[in-house]
Amino acid sequence: MPVTTNTPTSPTEKTTEGWPFWSVLVVDDELGMRNFLVKTLVPRCQSVSSASSAEEAAALLRSHHVDLIILDISLPGQDGVSWLKELRDQGFSGEVILITAFADLDTAIEALRAGASDFILKPFRVPQILNAVKHCHERSRLSRENYVLKHTLSGGKSVNHQLIGHSPVMNALMNTVHRVAAVNSTVLLQGESGTGKELVARALHDLSPRAQGPFVPVNCASMSPELIESELFGHAKGAFTGATKARDGLFYYAQGGTLFLDEVAELPLPLQATLLRTLEDLKIRPVGSEQLLPVNVRIIAATNRSLKEEVAAGRFRKDLYYRLQVVEITLPPLREHKEDIPDLVQHFIAQLSPVLGVAPLAISATELDYLLQYDWPGNARELHNLIERSLILGALNVSALYSVGGRGSTSAESTAAATELATTDLHTLEKQHIRTVLDSVQGDKTQAAQLLGISRRTLERRCAEWALS
Ligand SMILES: Nc1ncnc2c1ncn2[C@@H]1O[C@H](COP(=O)(O)OP(=O)(O)OP(=O)(O)O)[C@@H](O)[C@H]1O
Ligand SMILES: [Mg+2]
Repeated sequence: MPVTTNTPTSPTEKTTEGWPFWSVLVVDDELGMRNFLVKTLVPRCQSVSSASSAEEAAALLRSHHVDLIILDISLPGQDGVSWLKELRDQGFSGEVILITAFADLDTAIEALRAGASDFILKPFRVPQILNAVKHCHERSRLSRENYVLKHTLSGGKSVNHQLIGHSPVMNALMNTVHRVAAVNSTVLLQGESGTGKELVARALHDLSPRAQGPFVPVNCASMSPELIESELFGHAKGAFTGATKARDGLFYYAQGGTLFLDEVAELPLPLQATLLRTLEDLKIRPVGSEQLLPVNVRIIAATNRSLKEEVAAGRFRKDLYYRLQVVEITLPPLREHKEDIPDLVQHFIAQLSPVLGVAPLAISATELDYLLQYDWPGNARELHNLIERSLILGALNVSALYSVGGRGSTSAESTAAATELATTDLHTLEKQHIRTVLDSVQGDKTQAAQLLGISRRTLERRCAEWALS
């Protein structure tokens, strides 16, 4: 009979030699060996299961998620190496340590070819097996980290998560961030586009007891509704056309860390139900699988819409809204803390000039005055992008602010500019602006998209619409 032993681990628990989010399956027909391995691993892992044959192990894998299998080669029925080949074929991506009492070089080579991470000879001592498990854990951690880095957009730039601002609203925000980071509750970040929601999400993670774990951002708006469920929860082999192998989802990659659900209002309604169930049960089920995987992930959600209004309009589930807004943080628009503009300008110049490889820019008092008068409908991102553009062009181009059609500008200048703008339609202005930015970076779309604060995909769509490229 397959047996599972769970060791409850608290999310904040820190162990120096343990692997708190690690579940192991021991497959060996010798009861003594199974007991020995289970006893050794239980204090260090989230769960340890055991099986005495490949068939039993396969049955257990259908309902349990496993990160590491310690697998004996000679088993009654199907042998360990051939079962491992089958597992890898199905897309099992966990680690596997093969153990055997009868080894020759050929077996070892075959084992590694079949997809084993390590190979150990019986009899072995406790430190030997613990070392092997530790190496597997480290490898798995690195490959998850790698995956997250590859699949999330930080534009390859080193990101500075420092929140700038000394105004009363920013001080209050930072106090809240410090207090909320320490607890494990779900957080809902609301605020206009460009107010720093992602920055706050990262700060919450970096200041939390999970800081050593992964921070996995997911943009709910950028994934297709058909794929979003399998992106989040993973899928089994054959779950849908094209699912030739099993795959882990982003919840799995965020294990022990923080999952940042950006633009959460864009989640399709059926998926909102699945997410709610996940938050309540703390378990996920990959698409097309019977496997239930316990997850230990902190959720931070963000939206630039009012979720309350989305609920009222029937586009967002009320129960999910209440579940997400255990702690709600609303980020102030930049026009409500203009006194932070000088600090932000200096911060962006210091941050961007080394990245761009250009000299820092000196801002005159008159120029700063212009920046203070403007209403920043695109908030800190708009300021960030203006500074980036100015650094590239070698001068602060304040007039650009009033020629892009900034909505919500109330100062005298912008009213005048708005009157002037009214004679040109918005699409033409947008096109002109995109063309100017593209020219300034010699047509580099990735850089242009970053400067414009839109995704490369959106930029390409626009260019295709106007046949600009
Ligand atoms: N207080 C701040 N200090 C320093 N940088 C900031 C601050 N607020 C915003 N930024 C910068 O402004 C840019 C936009 O911030 P961010 O991406 O976090 O906005 P957002 O609220 O997530 O916007 P959206 O809703 O469009 O996704 C980033 O480059 C970020 O580093
Ligand atoms: Mg964002």
